[in-house]
Amino acid sequence: MPKDNTKIRKCLFPAAGYGTRFLPATKAIPKEMLPILTKPLLQYGVEEAREAGIDTMAIVTGRGKRAIEDHFDRSYELEHQINGTSKELLMKEIRDIVKNCTITYTRQVEMKGLGHAILTGQTLVGDEPFAVILADDLCDNDGEAVLTQMVKLYEKYRCSIVAVEEIPLEDSNKYGIVAGFEEEDSVLRVTNMVEKPESKDAPSNLAIIGRYILTPDIFDILEDTKPGKGGEIQITDALLTQAKQGGVIAYKFKGKRFDCGGVDGFVEATNFFYNKTKE
Ligand code: G1P
Repeated sequence: MPKDNTKIRKCLFPAAGYGTRFLPATKAIPKEMLPILTKPLLQYGVEEAREAGIDTMAIVTGRGKRAIEDHFDRSYELEHQINGTSKELLMKEIRDIVKNCTITYTRQVEMKGLGHAILTGQTLVGDEPFAVILADDLCDNDGEAVLTQMVKLYEKYRCSIVAVEEIPLEDSNKYGIVAGFEEEDSVLRVTNMVEKPESKDAPSNLAIIGRYILTPDIFDILEDTKPGKGGEIQITDALLTQAKQGGVIAYKFKGKRFDCGGVDGFVEATNFFYNKTKE
């Protein structure tokens, strides 16, 4: 069957980072496995991808990340123990993922930045457009999930898409910052992007959050992308090459995003989701 190059079928999850902001918790536990309430961050990401119609999860792991593979697998002994008890319900979502998704892995041997992690995932993604979720950016929406909104937009624009939100300018050095001109409400054609600029150099106050849709030519561009900010290969720099050819849009997503890579955002997300369960 010919490949339908218009549909987003795969989602890449860079998950090789050390999670140093959460030491000592992340000494032996991958940061992607830290739970908000009872669910690991990465599972939220996988559920968001599934909601967007994606059934292949491509996870880029590294040393000390084996708990991720065990989580997205059957656990016969445990499942046997809780079979027929009320606890079974607690495993429903993860069992459903394991049963219905293809989960693939590759290891990033050296930590050379987000761009490098994405390039490492090329063997899992192949030559088709794909989504990227950074699991420590946890998104919530009562309507459509952020990635679903982006997949719909991809069907219209057929180019790379970054999700953005307005931030206080003094935080610009924590994010990739984009600038562009308006295509339609909430959609900008990107003309410039800079990784973690100081506020005086920021081209706008629109920050990229951890949701991307990338066209596969990004891999060749990443191959040629020199180390940038922090000496790392930055996806923002590779995207700028695409943007200069008119191939990137920025989307002001609908919903709420928590930076669970840091303690403040993590606690905020925990409280938010806890209150939601009580509603
Ligand atoms: C990465 C990207 C940055 C983006 C951010 C979103 O940075 O490099 O452009 O704004 O994710 O969370 P990191 O948070 O990994 O330092």
